[in-house]
Order: sequence, then structure tokens, then C-alpha cells
Amino acid sequence: MPRATYVCSVCGQESPRWHGRCPGCGAWNTLVEERPAPGRGGGAAGNHAPSAGALFPVPLAEVDAPAVGRLSTGIAELDRVLGGGLVPGSLVLLGGAPGIGKSTITASALGHLAAAGRRTLYVTAEESAAQVKLRAERLGGAALRVPIVADTDLDAVVATIEAEAPDVCVIDSVQTLHAEGMNGSPGTVGQVREVAGRIARVAKQRHVATVLVGHVTKEGSLAGPRVLEHLVDCVLQFEGERERAYRTVRALKNRFGSTNEVGVFEMRDSGLVEVVDASARFVSEATRAPGSVVLCAMEGSRPLLVEVQALVAPSELVPPRRVVSGVDRNRLALLLAVLARHGAIGLGASDVFVSAAGGVRVDEPGADLAIALALASAARGVPLRIASDSQGSASRAAGPRSGGAVAGGRAVADGTDRPLAAFGEIGLTGELRYVAHPERRSAEAHKFGLAPVLSPEGPARTLRAALTAALGSAAPRARQAA
Ligand code: TYD
Ligand code: MG
Repeated sequence: MPRATYVCSVCGQESPRWHGRCPGCGAWNTLVEERPAPGRGGGAAGNHAPSAGALFPVPLAEVDAPAVGRLSTGIAELDRVLGGGLVPGSLVLLGGAPGIGKSTITASALGHLAAAGRRTLYVTAEESAAQVKLRAERLGGAALRVPIVADTDLDAVVATIEAEAPDVCVIDSVQTLHAEGMNGSPGTVGQVREVAGRIARVAKQRHVATVLVGHVTKEGSLAGPRVLEHLVDCVLQFEGERERAYRTVRALKNRFGSTNEVGVFEMRDSGLVEVVDASARFVSEATRAPGSVVLCAMEGSRPLLVEVQALVAPSELVPPRRVVSGVDRNRLALLLAVLARHGAIGLGASDVFVSAAGGVRVDEPGADLAIALALASAARGVPLRIASDSQGSASRAAGPRSGGAVAGGRAVADGTDRPLAAFGEIGLTGELRYVAHPERRSAEAHKFGLAPVLSPEGPARTLRAALTAALGSAAPRARQAA
């Protein structure tokens, strides 16, 4: 009789006994019973059987590795995140919150592949075929050519993939398929692992590029994430807020490409539309109000201008609110401390709200300076601007300049009504630190007429100098405590 084990549905930790709190990750009430089906086990490790003959090691140089062509999904942003398209026979896990657009993007990708003459298969275990059809009608033409099966039985789905042997198959979703002979309802760790494992096997055997759609739990992780992540070649995460237009797809793991790439999409009536020139969008929406700054961010190999906004208001709460959207909370705490200590802007008695516009997430260290400037500008109630060398923008530039505030700055005719652009990491001693790709970030800002750019490259070398440069006379004085 196989012994039951208990598996955490968040981190995959196994334990022989049930615990209220997972010994692995500390999450509460996440352990679920998993009773292995008789005869299961072995699996990929099957060649450890004592009777198996020894294998012959081959030098890597002699391994047969034919160059494979990629399957283009017809969605350039998605192809880029995948590293140039789907790799034939590979397994991709696409995770995201409900309603984010997973079914939409997979349906339109399959549509494009079908239109390009690929054999495709859409397995829906979540919606009826009719519901998928309604969506496909909104997406237009090609999506309606995709063959579909609607079933929740894993055996039937595996048999279908074997029989059809498509080039590309989408399983929507891995958590709603049911493996017969396994305990637990669909979506539990044991079930998800079994479903993904069986599909992975048939996909590799039949050389089917397979996209497993998975829901994220409310904690923000894919159910049984560790269990699935090692199994698949590529983990894509679909992010964004349902109420907001912009959605991003990024690779958390990719055996065939970089994990730095991000695709930006917008949800419209006719499906997800790629936002090819996202910078232009974000800059045109940027305001010149106090608390606003344009961050020159890097999304993978691509520079992206994103507006960062801050709001500072007197608080009645102890401790006051720190609300972030698209920005890391811990990073905000650090920046508030540095601002208080080295920028003479103390916000200990204020509610602080920081958000990256458009639902974009910026959690690279290069965002520090922009966040700090937005906070300082909001606290002082003064819009940020850098006086350029040319006359005309000197109106507010009464304050003393430190270190040549405009060195290298290119005066832009209408520079005064453009938002300030900035990037750079801030160290604990208030110094500005180098971040990757400064020239690409600056070039992107210049492309949209945002110059000069405040960055570790100059003109300012410290947070204080940056504050003086961008706030002018409104910058706090050296010994003045706010
Ligand atoms: P969906 O792809 O079903 O999300 P998921 O599979 O991740 O749960 O749809 C996401 C949302 O997008 C849904 O609430 C309806 C909306 N939507 C549009 O706005 N336009 C469209 O063309 C489509 C197909 C969906
Ligand atoms: Mg769906």
C-alpha cells in the first residue's frame, strides 16, 4: 500500500505528516495529501532500474543537435519574450491571474500559427468550445481555424495529442485537467504534477510544442510552482492589473533565450494588441505635475520610458501608509530612509503613494533615482525640471547648482514643458550608482526630446546634487531637516 505524503501547494515541500504550516515556506494551510497511484513512480528516473544496461557517454562535441527553426506565434512581442518564437517540441508554462488574457493570447497565437500552415490544437478544460469560439470571433479570422477539444480528462487529452500530433498545442488550463487514478481534485499539487508530467512526456515523444496555461494563486505564485518550473523549458508570466490597459509578458525561465525580455500589450475590444512603441505612449501621457518623473527603464534589452508618480500627504496613521503599484515596497522603504538621511526630506509622518503609470512594473535598481525624485517633488509640491544652458528655462533655476547641473545637457526648444527623465541606483550613503546600459537609456530619452537626463553619468553624482539640480531653489538646504 503506497504511503501518503503531504505536499505544499505553494513551494512543493514534501512531508510525511500533515502540518498546519508548511515547514518549507511557512505558508499556512497549504499542505495537501498526495497518495501515489499504484505502479506510479520511476518515470524519467526509470533507467535506474537494476536490470538496465550501462549507458555510453558521448562527448558533447559529437552530440547531434540540429539547428531548429522557431515557430513564430505571429505576435512579435511574444516571440521576442520566447527568444525568437516557440521552439518545436518545447514545453512552455504561461502563468497569470484570471482574466489577464492568457486564453486570449494563446488563442490568437494558435490562430496565426494555423494561418501559417502549422498543425495546431487547442485543449480547453475550463471553458466550453462555444465560449472559446465567441472569443475567437472577437479576435478575427485566423483564430477560428484552430481545431479545439473541450474535455477535462487527462487520458483523453493525451490520447488526442498522440493521435493528432500537432506542431503546437495549448492546454488551457493545466489546473483543470483531471488525472484518473490520482487522489485529489483538479488543481491540487499531485494532480497538477501528474497532468503536467504526462503532457510533457507525450509532447516530447511526439515533438509537440506545448503551452500549458496555469493560474496563479492569490499569493502570486503558480500553483505547485516548483513542481512545474523544473519540468518545463520556459516559464512566462503574464502580469498587469485587470482594470488597467497595459499587460506585460516576461520570461521567468527560458532554456532557449534570455529571461530579460518583456512584451507589452494592451487589451482592446479586438483582443490583445502589441504596444510596439511603449515609450511614446508613456511619455505622451506623462504629466508635468509635482510628483511626476519619467524613468528610463530597461525591459530586457529594450529601453522603456515609464512615468513614475508619487503622492505625499499628511497622515493620521501610525505607521503611515506606504502604498505602491509597480514598484518594490522594500525599495521604497530604503529610498525613504536615504531621502530623510541624505536628502533632508523626512516623510515619517506622511502617507506615501508611488506608482508606475500604465500598470507597468519597474523593479530594477535603476528606478531608484526616479522614485526618489518623484517623492521629493511631491513632498515639496514643485514640478521637477532641469534648467538647460539656454535662457528661457531659467525661471525656476534660482538655486545654487552643484557640480554643473547641466553638463552635457542638450537644450531642447520646448524643454520646459517636458517631464524630467532620470535613472540610476541610489546607494545607502546617498551616492548615485552606475546601472546597466546608461547609453541606451539616455538615447531613448533623447529620442523623445527629454534632455538632459539625470543619471549617475552626470550631471549629479549624489542624491543631494540631483535634488538641487531638479528642484532648484525648492531643494532642501544642507542642514535643514524637513
Ligand atoms: P481571458 O483571455 O479569458 O483571460 P484568462 O484566460 O487569463 O483568464 O480574457 C481576459 C479579459 O479580457 C476578459 O475579461 C475579457 C477581456 N477581453 C477584451 O477586452 N477584449 C477581447 O478581445 C477579449 C478576447 C477579451
Ligand atoms: Mg482563460
